[in-house]
Amino acid sequence: MTGIICGTGSYIPPYSMDNNDIAKLVETSDEWIRERTGVVRRHIIQEETTVSMAAEAGRRALENAGVAPEEVDLILVSTISSNVILPCAACDVQKELGAKNATCFDLNAACTGFLLAYNTAEAYLATGAYKTALVIGSESLSNLTNWKDRGTCILFGDGAGAAVLKTGEGRMYRPVTHSQGHKGEALTCKSRHSSNGLTSHAEPEELTHDEYFMQMDGQAVFKFAVRSVPEVIHEVLRVNEVEQNEIACYVLHQANRRIVEAVAKRLDEPIEKFPMNLQEYGNTSSASIPILLDELNRAGKLEKGSKIVLAGFGAGLTWGASIADWQ
Ligand code: COA
Repeated sequence: MTGIICGTGSYIPPYSMDNNDIAKLVETSDEWIRERTGVVRRHIIQEETTVSMAAEAGRRALENAGVAPEEVDLILVSTISSNVILPCAACDVQKELGAKNATCFDLNAACTGFLLAYNTAEAYLATGAYKTALVIGSESLSNLTNWKDRGTCILFGDGAGAAVLKTGEGRMYRPVTHSQGHKGEALTCKSRHSSNGLTSHAEPEELTHDEYFMQMDGQAVFKFAVRSVPEVIHEVLRVNEVEQNEIACYVLHQANRRIVEAVAKRLDEPIEKFPMNLQEYGNTSSASIPILLDELNRAGKLEKGSKIVLAGFGAGLTWGASIADWQ
């Protein structure tokens, strides 16, 4: 018994900014951004919120799966950019969709978040605790981006993706995931006061302007990704005794075209097995894997019975890979 993906959905804000728009904000160029990242444009929220995008992606996934909101008994939202601290985004999504029978909670594991949410849903479904899960990644990274920092603002974008998982007969693969908290300084966003001002410090800790937004050691993250992603893919294949040539496609977190190309090279796989859409959306953190999955699904590019690998990596540091049989 395992969780089977039986529907996908996504929501992308219509407003977009191309690299030339970014070059009006910071000293950069379309050519530099394309060459170093592969990103051409990114979509940015206007009226939308993390919750509204999550709910719309979820609604589309349920429609795609032919599942009614009342049938959903678990909603997981992976996000680092929720509108409010309480209530959790998943409860707000429940309200928007009328999924009144669902248990709802959020996960925060940055760009590995969707993968970990997917694994969590799979584990719950395998125990029989729940039968139908809606797993969503939704991000308004534009709210966390320092639009004066050319080292980060060229990379990120907003959007949401979702998958419906139902209990079914199929192979339960063991996921492989890792974390290295001691390397967390490579990618941070400190925009919450870390002192209560009551017992720990006289005054809440003051942050600098830059600390309110994402800060990143780009080269450290790049090296971490190109080393750890191929390793964890090898590991997930090994522990599940799956041969590399059985994998039809690798759905990687969409951070940077050069990272995806380096992973393909290290695995000695053709780049065609690594679909990409980061040129259109930039890095949408935990939304990137389900958005790509939805595009592949709707374009009919995933054959029934084929094996796919999902792999994520990001702040924490966290990373991991899972195998799924496409149904
Ligand atoms: N436009 C123009 N020049 C830029 C620039 C920009 N947007 N950003 C940096 N530069 C400059 C630097 O100042 C530096 O100039 P110098 O040589 O005169 O000092 C030069 O370009 C090279 O900078 P560097 O930081 O070494 O560039 P890079 O090749 O490492 O590319 C990133 C920078 C951010 C694109 C790259 O490191 C990266 O993609 N890292 C991974 C980030 C990521 O994916 N994070 C999310 C993971 S979930």
